[in-house]
Amino acid sequence: MKILVTGGAGFIGSAVVRQFIDETPHSVVNVDKLTYSGNLESLKSISGDPRYFFEHVDICDALELARVFETRQPDCVMHLAAESHVDRSISGPAEFIQTNIVGTYALLEASRSYYGSLPEERKSRFRFHHISTDEVYGTLGKEGLFTEETPYSPNSPYSASKASSDHLVRAWHHTYGLPVLTTNCSNNYGPYHFPEKLIPLMILNATNRKPLPVYGNGENIRDWLYVEDHARALRLVLEKGKIGENYNIGGRNEKTNLEVVHTICTILDELLPEGAPHASLISFVKDRPGHDFRYAIDASKIAKELGWMPRETFESGIRKTVEWYLENEAWVNHVTSGEYRNWIETHYEKGSA
Ligand code: NAD
Ligand code: TYD
Repeated sequence: MKILVTGGAGFIGSAVVRQFIDETPHSVVNVDKLTYSGNLESLKSISGDPRYFFEHVDICDALELARVFETRQPDCVMHLAAESHVDRSISGPAEFIQTNIVGTYALLEASRSYYGSLPEERKSRFRFHHISTDEVYGTLGKEGLFTEETPYSPNSPYSASKASSDHLVRAWHHTYGLPVLTTNCSNNYGPYHFPEKLIPLMILNATNRKPLPVYGNGENIRDWLYVEDHARALRLVLEKGKIGENYNIGGRNEKTNLEVVHTICTILDELLPEGAPHASLISFVKDRPGHDFRYAIDASKIAKELGWMPRETFESGIRKTVEWYLENEAWVNHVTSGEYRNWIETHYEKGSA
């Protein structure tokens, strides 16, 4: 198969692309605008593979999307391109409306037109897999889990834009018969994560002896999912998921933010004893406006119907992650210095490669 992956230079998209190239015979067309969170260096290990193709394209650009579908002839679409950071959505929601809603609309339309042109046999294999978040369900109290039946109740500009995109995907299936799949997953963590999100930010700040800014009282809870486990789940849903269905994906790893930060500090105390105790850097800061209290996923549907289980516990995954950030100094330095943004000029011509 040839899979068109949007957002393949991002954190989760790059894990999906690396897995396809490393572990399957499939080929990948990576459609990415390379915003601040897109980093081609995360694809260095597979970018020379003849089954990997890159298209430097904005998903809001209908003409460019039409060209990509026409020339690349993909068998499936996996849609990960998005603005993904809640804090950025609070300070500047416009890009979130544009990419997450308008961009998803443009991609759906390009896919619908392309799907309509396919012969029956290729139509039967085509899938549009939309990757979304558990944040569309809103916030939980101390008890309960999000299931696929939980009503949507998004609270941040980010989650509202993702909820909108989920609804568009659903409508394109019901109205136009586009064969769609939607997955909603919990907070991911792991290698190649842009250091604006909690876990990589804390690792890098702690190693640089900078304050560790914990919002509010640090008691908010997230359900952590190792990115490679998520990528495996996405591949399984693409291959075996039932058209029109939603699947929740979660790591069964509920932790308060403070527990996460303390775990990182304990691992760093062991690996970099000269900086111990790293927890002395914890600094409680003003809370995020509208901060959702708790997210937690009931992943029993994907477990029962498709046989997916995460391989990593939080303890194994967080250790791997901390070690990765300590061992991958070049990637980290290029991200923190901004040098990663030059990769597009030095490695690719504008347009396709
Ligand atoms: P990311 O921010 O690391 O990567 C996003 C990628 O999309 C980048 O490569 C960026 O360049 C690209 N992109 C942004 N706007 C684009 C546009 N207009 N056209 C083309 N490309 C564009 O995000 P991520 O963490 O890898 O998340 C991937 C997907 O998974 C997103 O849809 C996100 O909503 C969803 N998700 C993420 C998490 C998480 O914990 N990271 C959890 C649940 C769901
Ligand atoms: P984040 O990684 O931004 O993911 P999301 O908001 O999508 O869940 O944040 C995870 C949790 O960590 C969230 O409750 C906010 C909190 N947080 C901090 O306490 N300090 C920080 O510097 C950041 C970035 C997040």
